[in-house]
Amino acid sequence: MGKVRHIVESQQFDPPFISELFTKAEGLSRDGYPEGLGRNIMASLFYEPSTRTRFSFESAMHRLGGRVMTTENAREFSSFSKGESLEDTIRIMSQYADLLVMRHSEIGAAKRAAEISPVPIINAGDGAGQHPTQALLDLFTLHRRFGRIDGLKVAMVGDLRYGRTVRSLTYLLSKYKDVELHFVAPKVSQMHHDIKEYLDRRQVRWVDVEELDPILGRVDCVYMTRIQKERFLDLKEYEAANNKYRLSNENIEMMSPDAIIMHPLPRVMEIAPEVDSNPRAMYFEQAANGLWIRMALILHVLKRW
Ligand code: CP
Repeated sequence: MGKVRHIVESQQFDPPFISELFTKAEGLSRDGYPEGLGRNIMASLFYEPSTRTRFSFESAMHRLGGRVMTTENAREFSSFSKGESLEDTIRIMSQYADLLVMRHSEIGAAKRAAEISPVPIINAGDGAGQHPTQALLDLFTLHRRFGRIDGLKVAMVGDLRYGRTVRSLTYLLSKYKDVELHFVAPKVSQMHHDIKEYLDRRQVRWVDVEELDPILGRVDCVYMTRIQKERFLDLKEYEAANNKYRLSNENIEMMSPDAIIMHPLPRVMEIAPEVDSNPRAMYFEQAANGLWIRMALILHVLKRW
């Protein structure tokens, strides 16, 4: 049987694996995909809302010929609402499905699930913790555009304090050579010290800045994020962070013509709709890349490659 292949956090991946994953994802997107997962069932257990992650995983599984079990809202429509523990839910669901894709509001929930699950757990976001499959598709998008990750300069903008996508992406980027990271956030939503210490240990260059416009011309990618009102405990801090950064047709002209704009989505106001038609806007393509990366990940955890 061998070891169960869980996907819990970005630190578990190394560049050789990521390169293999990208080759697989490219192949699936270019050559089509096998439809041989008919005997496999994936359950999606989402305790928090999602559009892209849940539906791209479900679409990937359907396209691969597999079957999908899902609940519209696990917080309300699973026995979580009756007080069942996460561990008990995983013990039960892992008998009904061959793979569990889970989004939860608590940091570390996916790790707890993986510790007891006999079938693969894929972390689809654990509170303000991590979102490793998003980070892999983000990195895939960068790689598709630039043909490399080494040497890229990336600005991460917005909710860096509670943003699981930026945390996971930072861990992945830190594995490559000469990457430079600009953390653009107001004081109340800066990147946590644990990540900065991790970057220092790996000798990755990073800088905290509060103003967006001065760095627009210095980076290859501006990775915007939404200020997540739902994660702030103090409304005053949310208000201090909100509406501070916005990309529009005016300021994106400060970017290099080859630089790109990414966003894990959903966006609220931080990218004006007029930017969507600019060739630098990559966020819809980025979301589309999620299908290929998640298809490749499903095949991987089910040991098809
Ligand atoms: N990027 C992302 O996780 O989007 P959803 O919340 O819609 O899944």
